[in-house]
Amino acid sequence: MEFVTYEVNDRVGIITINREKALNALNSQVLDELSEAFDGVDLSEIRCLILTGAGEKSFVAGADIGEMSNLSKSEGEAFGKKGNDLFRKIETFPIPVIAAVNGFALGGGCEISMSCDIRICSDNAVFGQPEVGLGITPGFGGTQRLARLVSPGMAKQLIYTARNIKADEAYRIGLVNKVVSAEELMPEALKMAAGIAANAPIAVRACKKAINDGLQTDMDKAIVIEEKLFGSCFETEDQKAAMANFLEKDKEKKLKVVPFKNM
Ligand code: CAA
Repeated sequence: MEFVTYEVNDRVGIITINREKALNALNSQVLDELSEAFDGVDLSEIRCLILTGAGEKSFVAGADIGEMSNLSKSEGEAFGKKGNDLFRKIETFPIPVIAAVNGFALGGGCEISMSCDIRICSDNAVFGQPEVGLGITPGFGGTQRLARLVSPGMAKQLIYTARNIKADEAYRIGLVNKVVSAEELMPEALKMAAGIAANAPIAVRACKKAINDGLQTDMDKAIVIEEKLFGSCFETEDQKAAMANFLEKDKEKKLKVVPFKNM
């Protein structure tokens, strides 16, 4: 692939958008390659993914403005669908995805980070949905995910004004989970990913599905979704071993890390 790299660090996969000259802007080729990279993840091995951008300046500076500049209405809609299909794939990917936001996360960059489960950013990160300044709406899910992640009022303010915000404000409004220095970004993302990867994989996947699916529906249906997924964890080797370990009277054994199995 020309613009996307994939590497594996123990049980964590790292997908990097590598189009530094254009600040990692998302053109059709990048979107296709990202989709291919996610399809290629070996889910029997990998338990958590990190998505980041190449270089020190930008995570993703948005959808490619050059490519969008001459689109017709129907081509614009199709381009939106291409991004939305990919971002939905990321959002519903069976294992957690952490966005390590290393600089600009504007337009499609903010949007792709919001399709991830967790966002950690460097202190030089800048978030924003500048689309109305370009004569368009956010097109890769920004109107929907920002309103759900922060609040409808805050999302409307950011989108209508097209104002960019720095890392500390993104943290204050709940858009990012954690802000660290640029040097600490990947170590911190890897540390969090390793912590997730150390937990029971079936249970972690079930948690992601329960939270995602539950948020799409009312509470009565949502708790049934949880019940089913909770039930699905029982009789698994991990559940049996982990609970037996806890119940073990021997304190030494009780504190031992449970050797969770692969899927
Ligand atoms: N699309 C295409 N190319 C982009 C780009 C984008 N979104 N963002 C940056 N680039 C390119 C620039 O054209 C430039 O290329 P050249 O060297 O060939 O001229 C290169 O990246 C470096 O950019 P700048 O010289 O502009 O760098 P800077 O440090 O002066 O500014 C910036 C950085 C503030 C991020 C600025 O590049 C910028 O404002 N970029 C556009 C941000 C934006 O509006 N994003 C939203 C796009 S719309 C969208 O995403 C729609 C959607 O929801 C689907």
